[in-house]
Amino acid sequence: MITKVLFVCLGNICRSPLAEGVFQYLVDERSLSDKYRAHSAGTSNWHVGELADPRMRKTARSHNIELAGRARQFNVVDFDHFDVIVAMDCRNREDLLRLARSETDRQKVRIMRDYDVQADGDLDVPDPYYSGSLGFENVYHIIRRSSKSLLQTLENA
Ligand code: 4NP
Repeated sequence: MITKVLFVCLGNICRSPLAEGVFQYLVDERSLSDKYRAHSAGTSNWHVGELADPRMRKTARSHNIELAGRARQFNVVDFDHFDVIVAMDCRNREDLLRLARSETDRQKVRIMRDYDVQADGDLDVPDPYYSGSLGFENVYHIIRRSSKSLLQTLENA
């Protein structure tokens, strides 16, 4: 059985593509590719079909991660296709919970920084879209810490 993990942000061009790439990188590095598969989507349709933001791709590439996917919008049937659905911030989580059709759907929804030991009560992966390059690097470190801990949690379950 493969555990399918879907990372969800607003545009699917910054945070969730990076989370998909980082999580899959960690999975592959630990030789767990037959156990986990990462994907991503956005709650909005604003950037459907676009590559990830060039600034996000550049940051990812500097950490040996290539973001090649194109943005797509979250669809309610994703609740059937994925085992774990990870929102990047509280707004994304609210949007997902609003779309959930059942308790089974709702229980699949998590929030990324619940897995960040340094979150200090802030549950949002900050939206880097309107920030400088430091914002993107900061997002990388938050997502890497959270992804490591998420993978460990799934492995321990
Ligand atoms: P993301 O970032 O949700 O991490 O992909 C954003 C990308 C685009 C916009 C907002 C956030 N936008 O307003 O177009």
